[in-house]
Amino acid sequence: MKPLERLLLENKAWAQEKAAHDPEFFDKLRQPRNPDCFWIGCSDSRIHADQVTQTEPGEIFVHRNIANQVATMDMNFLAALEYAVDFLEVKHIIVCGHYGCGSIKAAMGKARPDQLFINKWLKYIKDIYRLHRENIDAESSDEARHNKLVELNIIEQVHNLAQTSVIQRAWRAGSRPDLRGWVYGLHDGIIKEIASLKAGSPLDPIYEQDLEFSTVKKQL
Ligand code: CO
Repeated sequence: MKPLERLLLENKAWAQEKAAHDPEFFDKLRQPRNPDCFWIGCSDSRIHADQVTQTEPGEIFVHRNIANQVATMDMNFLAALEYAVDFLEVKHIIVCGHYGCGSIKAAMGKARPDQLFINKWLKYIKDIYRLHRENIDAESSDEARHNKLVELNIIEQVHNLAQTSVIQRAWRAGSRPDLRGWVYGLHDGIIKEIASLKAGSPLDPIYEQDLEFSTVKKQL
């Protein structure tokens, strides 16, 4: 059987199984849901937010990209973030990376000239490597160096998230969302928390907005 035919066949089997197990499953799914969590994960085919957390459809709002980046020039990401924070009013945002991430490994080596867009995307990961090079290179093996950059990338993305205008606006308006950095172990399936920023956490002043300036501007 061709791979795509198998997917469609498995889809029918899944839908029948769900309906058999809970006849109201699809009726319930049609109702609007307000997920509490926004998950920013890696596009890697081995990690699916709902599968690894045993959550049901409707519980987690998801954005995925190569190496789980908070790319503040990516309209897709920014639109998903704005929707999650302003409309879904999520309480938690999780940046979940994973050990053994091929994209992080790729970012630690030379760029391949035939991968124009991948190179551009991985540039930010290279920057994190450069900024923490001493710390990362001090690790004793390639795997440990690689895993260190996986973790530092997650921590960096949590800070990037805090600096976005969407999060800053939400933090000024109320006490959500909290930001988390999680790392998933492909070897054991376990998620560890490695970073956490409560709503309203102070930012380095260079990232803060000058509110006084914006008030003055409004008066003009
Ligand atoms: Co990955």
